[in-house]
Amino acid sequence: MRRNMALISCVLFTVMLTSAVVSVSAGRPLTYPLPSSVPLGEKQVLQTFRAYNVAHRGSNGEFPEETAPAYMRAIDEGADFIETDIQATKDGILVCNHDVTLDDTTDVADHKEFADRRTTYEVQWVNTTGWFVVDFTLAELKTLRAKQRYDFRDQQYNGKFQLITFEEYISIALDAKRTVGIYPEIKNPVFVNKHVKWSDGKKLEDRFVETLQKFGYTGSYLSEDWLKRPAFIQSFAPSSLVYISNQTKLPKIFLIDDVTIRTEDTNQTYDVITSDSYFNYIKDYVMGIGPWKDTVVPPLENYLQRATDLIAKAHALGLQVHPYTFRNENSFLHFDFHQDPYVEYDFWINKMGVDGLFTDFTGSLHRYQEWTSSSEKQTLQKIASMVSSFKRG
Ligand SMILES: *[C@@H]1O[C@H](CO)[C@@H](O)[C@H](O)[C@H]1NC(C)=O
Ligand SMILES: *[C@@H]1O[C@H](CO)[C@@H](O)[C@H](O)[C@H]1NC(C)=O
Ligand SMILES: *[C@@H]1O[C@H](CO)[C@@H](O)[C@H](O)[C@H]1NC(C)=O
Repeated sequence: MRRNMALISCVLFTVMLTSAVVSVSAGRPLTYPLPSSVPLGEKQVLQTFRAYNVAHRGSNGEFPEETAPAYMRAIDEGADFIETDIQATKDGILVCNHDVTLDDTTDVADHKEFADRRTTYEVQWVNTTGWFVVDFTLAELKTLRAKQRYDFRDQQYNGKFQLITFEEYISIALDAKRTVGIYPEIKNPVFVNKHVKWSDGKKLEDRFVETLQKFGYTGSYLSEDWLKRPAFIQSFAPSSLVYISNQTKLPKIFLIDDVTIRTEDTNQTYDVITSDSYFNYIKDYVMGIGPWKDTVVPPLENYLQRATDLIAKAHALGLQVHPYTFRNENSFLHFDFHQDPYVEYDFWINKMGVDGLFTDFTGSLHRYQEWTSSSEKQTLQKIASMVSSFKRG
């Protein structure tokens, strides 16, 4: 534990140093130099025999979300995939940040030089006020420091880490000592494309796919290329997923929001996008769905009610289901799970049969899966990886 922390601080120091260069240089040096120091062929393969452990915004239960330490912690803790949200800066650079605003997860409010940048924009038909990522250049964003979103989580890292670019995030995954996948979201594309214009007329979706291709993320699900560089592309905007279907074979996950929210691009209701006819249409473009867990099994007064047929419907069409978001804290756990996150994982993995889980606490999900995996399955996985390395060799 202590040794890990020393290592992380050491790497962070490098992050800071490198980033100081980033803000003045047009050719941005990567925090983690590529190609990776670990030869691909020698890496432990991605496990594919059990539900995927998707580190939601990194290990953001412990570190400020979507920062390098949050992702590195998630990799240490056993993530299969590290997850992020991709937006664009004013100067067209793709960066990792969940909210379209910076207010809740950075110290932007303390930067007097940006006071006049606070404004109101319509985001998905709601007027939203704050400091917006799309109004800052990358150099300006790099002067901000991340902070923990929730006041009941560890505050000691506030003010220490910078925001990172899409490329820096990818390089963290590629530099891991075992094969760790990426799970980036095309975030609020309608809003970002309205505010950020590229000189060549391309859109956020084009830049997003170009970046993935640049780093070798090209393969269809479970292909040899994919297993070397595993990635899922996610979005709440179905038209963005359809738009990129001609540009990349990477598997795509259609995110599904709360039942009250309409899609940002096609203005469709929850009922419409979860109907049989819509699933029949979208299944040609996506590998699976990523629903909010409370829409799959709606709670009432913090107790679960009957599960909907969403998972059964998706599985019947061969679609995977990766629900979000699993969080250890009592305030997020429904009473049925008697305050035990392992009971929640048991329910979703063994009773609901999901194919992946977005968690704020990758370490907990990993330990749950390690402790409950049968040795028989692990032996099968070992044989499978021996066969695949034999085939590759
Ligand atoms: C947002 O605010 C502007 C200016 O006050 C107003 O014209 C517009 O109707 C508002 N939009 C929404 C969705 O409330
Ligand atoms: C993809 O390309 C094919 C062939 O050019 C075209 O028919 C189709 O409409 C394209 N699909 C999208 C979503 O752009
Ligand atoms: C979305 O659809 C609803 C229902 O048809 C309609 O009332 C609303 O005006 C639409 N919003 C936009 C932005 O098109």
